[in-house]
Amino acid sequence: KSVRLRHYRYKGTVINTWHVMAGAPEHWRRFSARPTDVFVASFPKSGTTWLQELVWQVVHQEQSKQTDEPLEYRFPLFDMPSVERMRFKEISEMSDPRLIKTHLPYHLLPESVWTSGAKVLYVSRDPRDVCVSYYHFCRMVNFNSYRGTFAEFRDAFQKGEMMYGPYREHVKGYRDHAGQVLCVTYEELHQDRVGCIKRVAEFLGRPMTDELAQTIFQRTSFAEMKKNPAVNYTHWQKEGVAHPEKEVGAFMRKGKVGDWTNYFTQEEGDALLKWSQQLV
Ligand code: A3P
Repeated sequence: KSVRLRHYRYKGTVINTWHVMAGAPEHWRRFSARPTDVFVASFPKSGTTWLQELVWQVVHQEQSKQTDEPLEYRFPLFDMPSVERMRFKEISEMSDPRLIKTHLPYHLLPESVWTSGAKVLYVSRDPRDVCVSYYHFCRMVNFNSYRGTFAEFRDAFQKGEMMYGPYREHVKGYRDHAGQVLCVTYEELHQDRVGCIKRVAEFLGRPMTDELAQTIFQRTSFAEMKKNPAVNYTHWQKEGVAHPEKEVGAFMRKGKVGDWTNYFTQEEGDALLKWSQQLV
């Protein structure tokens, strides 16, 4: 199946045709952000879940016990129109502070996000690893069930044909506003997660002790998150979102930096990296 199925380019960005028909862009424009809102934004497969869980832990630090509620209910995706929100709470009905995930590019976020003083964090990742992770994700989810080759997928990624593409413009949109947006990378989360936890806490105005930073560090390790049903998306099996065939993979797949070397030749990898740096 094509990766382009049901996709539509809206103001330069690929989004779901059904979302456009259901009036999602109008819903984005009209959204009224609050100063206490926290948005985690990203291009898909860049470490969104990782940063979301970290932010959730920083914000809800008073709760010593972890919750069982899946992250996507506690920290819902903004981008869907209301008619498709059956599985999620309406964001307008959430209590403060509202934690909200989005894959929308900077230019499609509601104006009120920027005028309200809401906090926005953005996570980005080496495009070669994003591409590999996205390929596996599109194979795993029933709303895509991608069965083409990796090479075809990589070409489509580079042409900006995947949902929320193009990649380079997505990253650039947020990085150009790095003063206003807290930008972290997947690679930084690997190299210095305690440092990232402290930066996030400071940005969100939450006090952070070394002890708490250590607790959050442990809770957000790949091993811990992979076995935690509240963050590992295993509920997608029950809800019919993930493909029932086990061999197509899990959401918490490898969690590594540099898995691209198993999919690209060095030359192809270098070329994609160079391409990604031309704009950003
Ligand atoms: P891989 O497919 O390379 O394993 P997103 O949340 O934006 O969809 O990104 C998913 C990617 O982040 C997956 O990458 C997933 O394994 C990885 N990931 C999620 N939690 C992680 C963690 N705690 N440590 C490292 N990687 C993590």
